[in-house]
Amino acid sequence: MTTDTVVNLDLLDDVRAGLSQSQKSLPCIWFYDDRGSELFQQITHLSEYYLTRTEQSILEQRVDGLAQRLGAGTAVVEYGAGASIKTRTLLAALLEPSSFWPVDISDGFVRDAAKSIETLFPGLSVKPWVGDFMAGGPSRSDFQNAPTVLGFFPGSTIGNLSDAEISTFLRTVHDQLGKDALFLVGADLKKEPSILIDAYDDAQGVTANFNMNLLVRINRELDADFDLTNFHHEARWNEDASQIEMHLVSQCDQSVTIQGHSFAFKSGETIHTENSRKFTVEGLTAIAKQADWSVNELWSDPDQLYGMLLLEAA
Ligand code: TRP
Repeated sequence: MTTDTVVNLDLLDDVRAGLSQSQKSLPCIWFYDDRGSELFQQITHLSEYYLTRTEQSILEQRVDGLAQRLGAGTAVVEYGAGASIKTRTLLAALLEPSSFWPVDISDGFVRDAAKSIETLFPGLSVKPWVGDFMAGGPSRSDFQNAPTVLGFFPGSTIGNLSDAEISTFLRTVHDQLGKDALFLVGADLKKEPSILIDAYDDAQGVTANFNMNLLVRINRELDADFDLTNFHHEARWNEDASQIEMHLVSQCDQSVTIQGHSFAFKSGETIHTENSRKFTVEGLTAIAKQADWSVNELWSDPDQLYGMLLLEAA
Protein backbone atom coordinates (compact mmCIF):
# COMPACT_ATOMS: atom_id res chain seq x y z
CA MET A 1 0.00 0.00 0.00
CA THR A 2 1.07 3.57 -0.61
CA THR A 3 2.53 5.38 2.37
CA ASP A 4 0.12 8.30 2.26
CA THR A 5 -3.03 6.19 2.57
CA VAL A 6 -4.61 6.42 6.01
CA VAL A 7 -6.92 3.44 6.16
CA ASN A 8 -10.45 4.22 7.32
CA LEU A 9 -11.02 1.29 9.69
CA ASP A 10 -14.78 1.77 10.11
CA LEU A 11 -15.17 1.76 6.34
CA LEU A 12 -12.94 -1.33 6.13
CA ASP A 13 -15.12 -3.22 8.63
CA ASP A 14 -18.28 -2.37 6.70
CA VAL A 15 -16.73 -3.21 3.33
CA ARG A 16 -15.40 -6.58 4.50
CA ALA A 17 -18.70 -7.52 6.10
CA GLY A 18 -20.79 -6.25 3.19
CA LEU A 19 -18.77 -7.88 0.42
CA SER A 20 -18.71 -11.23 2.26
CA GLN A 21 -22.49 -11.69 2.04
CA SER A 22 -24.06 -13.75 -0.70
CA GLN A 23 -25.90 -10.62 -1.88
CA LYS A 24 -23.04 -8.14 -1.56
CA SER A 25 -24.04 -4.80 -0.08
CA LEU A 26 -22.55 -1.60 1.33
CA PRO A 27 -24.14 0.76 3.89
CA CYS A 28 -25.42 3.96 2.28
CA ILE A 29 -23.83 6.28 4.89
CA TRP A 30 -20.52 5.93 3.00
CA PHE A 31 -21.97 7.76 -0.03
CA TYR A 32 -21.53 11.10 1.65
CA ASP A 33 -17.88 12.10 1.46
CA ASP A 34 -17.23 15.62 0.06
CA ARG A 35 -17.54 14.49 -3.55
CA GLY A 36 -20.63 12.39 -2.73
CA SER A 37 -22.33 15.30 -0.97
CA GLU A 38 -21.57 17.51 -3.98
CA LEU A 39 -22.96 14.91 -6.42
CA PHE A 40 -26.07 14.54 -4.29
CA GLN A 41 -26.60 18.31 -4.47
CA GLN A 42 -26.48 17.97 -8.27
CA ILE A 43 -29.03 15.13 -8.14
CA THR A 44 -31.51 17.40 -6.36
CA HIS A 45 -31.41 19.78 -9.35
CA LEU A 46 -31.92 17.16 -12.09
CA SER A 47 -35.12 17.42 -14.13
CA GLU A 48 -35.75 13.68 -13.60
CA TYR A 49 -35.42 14.04 -9.82
CA TYR A 50 -38.88 15.44 -9.06
CA LEU A 51 -38.60 14.87 -5.30
CA THR A 52 -36.74 18.02 -4.21
CA ARG A 53 -38.71 20.57 -6.20
CA THR A 54 -42.03 18.89 -5.36
CA GLU A 55 -41.27 18.87 -1.65
CA GLN A 56 -40.16 22.50 -1.86
CA SER A 57 -43.41 23.56 -3.54
CA ILE A 58 -45.55 21.70 -0.99
CA LEU A 59 -43.62 23.34 1.81
CA GLU A 60 -44.00 26.81 0.27
CA GLN A 61 -47.78 26.32 0.08
CA ARG A 62 -48.15 25.16 3.67
CA VAL A 63 -45.44 26.77 5.71
CA ASP A 64 -47.36 29.95 6.65
CA GLY A 65 -50.19 27.88 8.11
CA LEU A 66 -47.66 25.87 10.08
CA ALA A 67 -45.99 29.05 11.34
CA GLN A 68 -49.33 30.42 12.61
CA ARG A 69 -50.02 27.18 14.37
CA LEU A 70 -46.61 27.04 16.09
CA GLY A 71 -46.52 30.71 17.11
CA ALA A 72 -43.33 32.53 18.10
CA GLY A 73 -40.15 31.07 19.58
CA THR A 74 -40.15 27.54 18.09
CA ALA A 75 -37.06 25.35 18.45
CA VAL A 76 -36.40 23.49 15.18
CA VAL A 77 -34.46 20.21 14.99
CA GLU A 78 -33.52 18.96 11.51
CA TYR A 79 -32.38 15.36 11.04
CA GLY A 80 -29.88 14.96 8.18
CA ALA A 81 -28.27 17.88 6.35
CA GLY A 82 -29.55 21.28 7.34
CA ALA A 83 -28.69 23.98 4.85
CA SER A 84 -31.03 23.24 2.00
CA ILE A 85 -33.46 25.66 0.40
CA LYS A 86 -36.21 23.84 2.32
CA THR A 87 -34.59 24.62 5.64
CA ARG A 88 -34.34 28.28 4.70
CA THR A 89 -37.96 28.39 3.53
CA LEU A 90 -39.06 26.88 6.84
CA LEU A 91 -36.95 29.12 9.07
CA ALA A 92 -37.90 32.25 7.10
CA ALA A 93 -41.61 31.57 7.48
CA LEU A 94 -41.63 30.68 11.20
CA LEU A 95 -42.31 33.52 13.63
CA GLU A 96 -39.03 34.34 15.36
CA PRO A 97 -37.78 30.78 15.78
CA SER A 98 -35.55 30.59 18.88
CA SER A 99 -33.04 27.90 17.99
CA PHE A 100 -32.09 25.62 15.11
CA TRP A 101 -30.37 22.26 15.65
CA PRO A 102 -29.06 20.60 12.48
CA VAL A 103 -28.14 16.98 13.21
CA ASP A 104 -25.71 15.38 10.76
CA ILE A 105 -23.02 12.72 10.74
CA SER A 106 -20.67 14.75 8.56
CA ASP A 107 -18.80 17.15 10.85
CA GLY A 108 -17.52 19.62 8.28
CA PHE A 109 -20.80 19.63 6.41
CA VAL A 110 -23.01 20.34 9.41
CA ARG A 111 -20.71 23.11 10.68
CA ASP A 112 -20.64 24.83 7.27
CA ALA A 113 -24.41 24.46 7.06
CA ALA A 114 -24.77 26.01 10.51
CA LYS A 115 -22.59 28.97 9.51
CA SER A 116 -24.59 29.74 6.40
CA ILE A 117 -27.88 29.57 8.36
CA GLU A 118 -26.40 31.83 11.06
CA THR A 119 -25.47 34.43 8.46
CA LEU A 120 -28.96 34.36 6.96
CA PHE A 121 -30.83 34.49 10.27
CA PRO A 122 -28.86 36.76 12.61
CA GLY A 123 -31.13 36.45 15.69
CA LEU A 124 -31.35 32.67 15.58
CA SER A 125 -29.28 30.49 17.87
CA VAL A 126 -27.79 27.75 15.66
CA LYS A 127 -26.46 24.62 17.38
CA PRO A 128 -24.91 22.01 15.08
CA TRP A 129 -25.15 18.48 16.46
CA VAL A 130 -22.61 16.07 14.99
CA GLY A 131 -23.78 12.47 14.98
CA ASP A 132 -25.80 9.78 13.24
CA PHE A 133 -29.41 10.97 13.30
CA MET A 134 -30.46 7.35 13.95
CA ALA A 135 -29.29 7.97 17.52
CA GLY A 136 -31.56 11.02 17.66
CA GLY A 137 -30.33 14.47 18.58
CA PRO A 138 -30.97 17.15 21.17
CA SER A 139 -33.73 16.70 23.75
CA ARG A 140 -36.57 18.85 25.07
CA SER A 141 -34.40 19.88 28.04
CA ASP A 142 -31.89 21.45 25.61
CA PHE A 143 -34.55 23.99 24.56
CA GLN A 144 -36.76 24.04 27.62
CA ASN A 145 -37.63 27.72 27.21
CA ALA A 146 -39.00 27.26 23.71
CA PRO A 147 -42.81 27.27 23.80
CA THR A 148 -43.03 24.91 20.82
CA VAL A 149 -40.79 22.32 19.13
CA LEU A 150 -40.71 21.23 15.50
CA GLY A 151 -38.78 18.21 14.20
CA PHE A 152 -38.00 18.30 10.46
CA PHE A 153 -37.01 15.24 8.40
CA PRO A 154 -37.20 16.18 4.68
CA GLY A 155 -35.91 14.63 1.48
CA SER A 156 -37.61 11.23 1.82
CA THR A 157 -34.62 10.09 3.86
CA ILE A 158 -37.19 8.00 5.75
CA GLY A 159 -37.37 5.92 2.56
CA ASN A 160 -33.73 4.93 2.92
CA LEU A 161 -34.44 3.21 6.27
CA SER A 162 -35.76 -0.29 6.98
CA ASP A 163 -39.02 -0.82 8.89
CA ALA A 164 -37.07 -1.54 12.06
CA GLU A 165 -34.92 1.57 11.62
CA ILE A 166 -37.96 3.77 10.97
CA SER A 167 -39.66 2.56 14.08
CA THR A 168 -36.55 3.03 16.26
CA PHE A 169 -35.96 6.48 14.83
CA LEU A 170 -39.55 7.70 15.17
CA ARG A 171 -39.66 6.51 18.78
CA THR A 172 -36.35 8.15 19.62
CA VAL A 173 -37.50 11.46 18.17
CA HIS A 174 -40.80 11.09 20.03
CA ASP A 175 -38.98 10.61 23.34
CA GLN A 176 -36.48 13.40 22.72
CA LEU A 177 -38.74 16.16 21.37
CA GLY A 178 -41.42 15.71 24.02
CA LYS A 179 -45.20 15.46 24.15
CA ASP A 180 -45.93 18.87 22.68
CA ALA A 181 -43.74 18.48 19.59
CA LEU A 182 -44.76 18.45 15.96
CA PHE A 183 -42.70 16.44 13.48
CA LEU A 184 -42.71 17.26 9.75
CA VAL A 185 -41.61 14.30 7.61
CA GLY A 186 -41.22 14.22 3.81
CA ALA A 187 -41.82 10.92 1.99
CA ASP A 188 -41.90 9.94 -1.65
CA LEU A 189 -45.11 8.25 -2.84
CA LYS A 190 -45.56 5.13 -4.95
CA LYS A 191 -46.04 5.82 -8.65
CA GLU A 192 -45.42 4.59 -12.20
CA PRO A 193 -42.07 2.69 -12.12
CA SER A 194 -40.67 4.38 -15.26
CA ILE A 195 -40.82 7.77 -13.51
CA LEU A 196 -38.99 6.26 -10.55
CA ILE A 197 -36.33 4.58 -12.66
CA ASP A 198 -35.59 7.86 -14.47
CA ALA A 199 -35.27 9.69 -11.13
CA TYR A 200 -32.59 7.22 -10.03
CA ASP A 201 -30.89 6.71 -13.39
CA ASP A 202 -30.78 10.14 -15.00
CA ALA A 203 -29.75 10.84 -18.60
CA GLN A 204 -26.66 12.84 -17.59
CA GLY A 205 -25.38 10.01 -15.42
CA VAL A 206 -25.09 12.06 -12.23
CA THR A 207 -26.75 9.36 -10.12
CA ALA A 208 -24.49 6.77 -11.75
CA ASN A 209 -21.46 8.86 -10.72
CA PHE A 210 -22.89 9.21 -7.22
CA ASN A 211 -23.27 5.43 -6.88
CA MET A 212 -19.85 4.75 -8.46
CA ASN A 213 -18.24 7.29 -6.14
CA LEU A 214 -18.57 4.68 -3.41
CA LEU A 215 -15.99 2.56 -5.26
CA VAL A 216 -13.79 5.62 -5.85
CA ARG A 217 -13.90 6.26 -2.12
CA ILE A 218 -13.01 2.65 -1.27
CA ASN A 219 -10.12 2.75 -3.72
CA ARG A 220 -8.85 5.95 -2.11
CA GLU A 221 -9.47 5.29 1.58
CA LEU A 222 -8.70 1.57 1.57
CA ASP A 223 -6.14 1.53 -1.22
CA ALA A 224 -8.34 -0.96 -3.11
CA ASP A 225 -8.21 -1.75 -6.81
CA PHE A 226 -11.78 -1.58 -8.12
CA ASP A 227 -11.60 -1.10 -11.89
CA LEU A 228 -14.38 1.45 -12.41
CA THR A 229 -14.83 0.49 -16.06
CA ASN A 230 -15.87 -2.99 -14.90
CA PHE A 231 -18.89 -1.85 -12.86
CA HIS A 232 -22.14 -0.30 -13.99
CA HIS A 233 -24.85 1.66 -12.13
CA GLU A 234 -28.33 0.17 -12.13
CA ALA A 235 -31.61 1.35 -10.55
CA ARG A 236 -34.16 -1.48 -10.16
CA TRP A 237 -37.80 -1.28 -9.16
CA ASN A 238 -38.79 -3.97 -6.64
CA GLU A 239 -42.59 -4.09 -6.75
CA ASP A 240 -43.01 -6.44 -3.78
CA ALA A 241 -40.93 -4.26 -1.46
CA SER A 242 -42.19 -1.05 -3.17
CA GLN A 243 -38.68 0.33 -3.45
CA ILE A 244 -36.06 1.50 -5.90
CA GLU A 245 -32.85 -0.45 -5.35
CA MET A 246 -29.47 0.92 -6.31
CA HIS A 247 -26.91 -1.61 -7.49
CA LEU A 248 -23.37 -1.66 -8.89
CA VAL A 249 -23.26 -4.47 -11.42
CA SER A 250 -20.06 -6.35 -12.20
CA GLN A 251 -19.54 -6.40 -15.98
CA CYS A 252 -17.36 -9.52 -16.00
CA ASP A 253 -15.89 -12.23 -13.78
CA GLN A 254 -13.28 -10.36 -11.75
CA SER A 255 -11.61 -10.11 -8.41
CA VAL A 256 -10.91 -7.00 -6.36
CA THR A 257 -8.26 -6.67 -3.67
CA ILE A 258 -9.00 -4.61 -0.58
CA GLN A 259 -6.35 -4.48 2.16
CA GLY A 260 -4.93 -7.88 1.28
CA HIS A 261 -8.33 -9.59 0.98
CA SER A 262 -9.57 -10.57 -2.40
CA PHE A 263 -13.28 -10.52 -3.29
CA ALA A 264 -14.59 -12.40 -6.31
CA PHE A 265 -17.37 -11.04 -8.51
CA LYS A 266 -19.20 -13.06 -11.15
CA SER A 267 -20.35 -11.31 -14.29
CA GLY A 268 -23.76 -9.78 -13.47
CA GLU A 269 -23.28 -10.06 -9.72
CA THR A 270 -24.17 -6.85 -7.88
CA ILE A 271 -23.34 -4.77 -4.84
CA HIS A 272 -26.61 -3.48 -3.41
CA THR A 273 -25.92 0.09 -2.23
CA GLU A 274 -29.24 1.71 -1.33
CA ASN A 275 -33.00 1.35 -1.08
CA SER A 276 -35.40 4.21 -1.67
CA ARG A 277 -38.85 3.13 -0.51
CA LYS A 278 -41.99 4.51 -2.06
CA PHE A 279 -44.93 4.79 0.31
CA THR A 280 -48.71 4.84 0.21
CA VAL A 281 -50.58 7.27 2.43
CA GLU A 282 -52.06 4.35 4.38
CA GLY A 283 -48.65 2.76 4.82
CA LEU A 284 -47.15 5.98 6.17
CA THR A 285 -50.02 6.52 8.58
CA ALA A 286 -49.63 2.98 9.93
CA ILE A 287 -45.86 3.39 10.37
CA ALA A 288 -46.35 6.65 12.30
CA LYS A 289 -49.10 5.20 14.49
CA GLN A 290 -47.13 2.24 15.70
CA ALA A 291 -44.37 4.62 16.85
CA ASP A 292 -46.91 6.70 18.87
CA TRP A 293 -47.20 9.57 16.43
CA SER A 294 -50.52 10.53 14.90
CA VAL A 295 -50.88 12.08 11.47
CA ASN A 296 -52.31 15.52 12.08
CA GLU A 297 -52.11 16.71 8.50
CA LEU A 298 -51.04 15.16 5.24
CA TRP A 299 -49.83 17.50 2.51
CA SER A 300 -49.32 16.56 -1.12
CA ASP A 301 -48.96 18.08 -4.58
CA PRO A 302 -51.76 18.02 -7.20
CA ASP A 303 -50.22 14.96 -8.90
CA GLN A 304 -49.69 13.15 -5.59
CA LEU A 305 -46.04 12.58 -6.37
CA TYR A 306 -44.83 13.35 -2.88
CA GLY A 307 -46.20 13.57 0.65
CA MET A 308 -45.40 15.53 3.78
CA LEU A 309 -46.78 14.33 7.10
CA LEU A 310 -47.33 16.65 9.99
CA LEU A 311 -47.10 14.31 12.96
CA GLU A 312 -48.24 15.06 16.46
CA ALA A 313 -46.92 13.18 19.48
CA ALA A 314 -49.81 10.94 20.53
N1 TRP B 1 -33.31 10.22 0.07
C1 TRP B 1 -32.93 10.21 -1.33
C2 TRP B 1 -33.90 9.33 -2.09
O1 TRP B 1 -34.20 8.25 -1.66
C3 TRP B 1 -31.53 9.72 -1.49
C4 TRP B 1 -31.08 9.48 -2.91
C5 TRP B 1 -31.44 10.14 -4.03
C6 TRP B 1 -30.18 8.51 -3.35
N2 TRP B 1 -30.81 9.64 -5.13
C7 TRP B 1 -30.04 8.65 -4.73
C8 TRP B 1 -29.47 7.54 -2.71
C9 TRP B 1 -29.21 7.83 -5.47
C10 TRP B 1 -28.65 6.72 -3.45
C11 TRP B 1 -28.52 6.85 -4.82
O2 TRP B 1 -34.40 9.74 -3.11
